[in-house]
Amino acid sequence: MALVDGADPAFVRDVLAGMALPQKAVPARWLYDEAGSHLFEDLTRLPEYYPTRTETAILAACAADLATQVGPGRAVVEFGSGSSTKTPLVLDAISPAAYVPIDISGDFLRASAAALAAARPGLPVHPVKADFLQPVALPSAVEGLPKLGFFPGSTIGNFGPRAATDLLRSMAATLGEGAQLLIGMDLIKDEAALVAAYDDAAGVTARFNRNLLQRINREAGGTIPVAQFRHEARWNDTQARIEMHLVAECALSFTIAGQSFAMGAGDSIHTENSHKFSLRSAALLLMAGGWQIRTRWLDADALFAIMLADRASANFAP
Ligand code: AVJ
Repeated sequence: MALVDGADPAFVRDVLAGMALPQKAVPARWLYDEAGSHLFEDLTRLPEYYPTRTETAILAACAADLATQVGPGRAVVEFGSGSSTKTPLVLDAISPAAYVPIDISGDFLRASAAALAAARPGLPVHPVKADFLQPVALPSAVEGLPKLGFFPGSTIGNFGPRAATDLLRSMAATLGEGAQLLIGMDLIKDEAALVAAYDDAAGVTARFNRNLLQRINREAGGTIPVAQFRHEARWNDTQARIEMHLVAECALSFTIAGQSFAMGAGDSIHTENSHKFSLRSAALLLMAGGWQIRTRWLDADALFAIMLADRASANFAP
């Protein structure tokens, strides 16, 4: 089967490996091609999807407090610089010395960095194209500056405890001594509200999820019968996470890059985890990753939390 020219070989590799698992699964990062990124932007504005507007409102409300806790003169290092509406709230709150957006997608990075720099003539902007799952070498221009890491959106929730811990440690290594981390974390709440946020009435999240199958067909030479899959959002209470699945509505088979796959009715492809936190589990995860919460801000309904953490010293008492 012909692969599309320019298809990412890592995508094809991940899809083939994931489809061979007993519980079929594709890493969630592949949801975000151009169509997927637009659908994601659309779903952040849905009435059921509370995280984006809630986090934005918390950031707006805590700006003065944030300025006091962070102080001026830090280089703000944003991990995954997609969140165009949230970054200005942080930059405008704290008098930063520089802004360093890190993103794996070069095009997206250049566009958002240019827009931000144009709106703030005095602020040095140094975009870095890199995979932030590993420690990143920051530009020498910000070498001597204390850092504020920014990781909004509860993107940390896409990772299981082990990968999330590794990521937080990588961030600590990237940001260096004396760094702080400002991180958004979605909170555990009523199951119906959680499921609705990932299975909206307008069907945008369903389209976002099913777009992955279209992408596989387009870029990996797939023959998946997309219409025979339904979107499902499941609350996994043991792991405290929402899972997105694509469920086969009947027995079906297809090929991807020439390899054959079969699924029974009710079998699913697992496409995303979105872990939710309690205030304790959030604190524990951050501590395991080398960070200690200094302050946290919640909305009035305790839907979402923004934590400001300091790098923890290695030797805790006793
Ligand atoms: C941006 C990855 C955190 O898990 O809430 C939204 C992605 N998936 N609706 C989330 C998402 C379905 C979002 N993250």
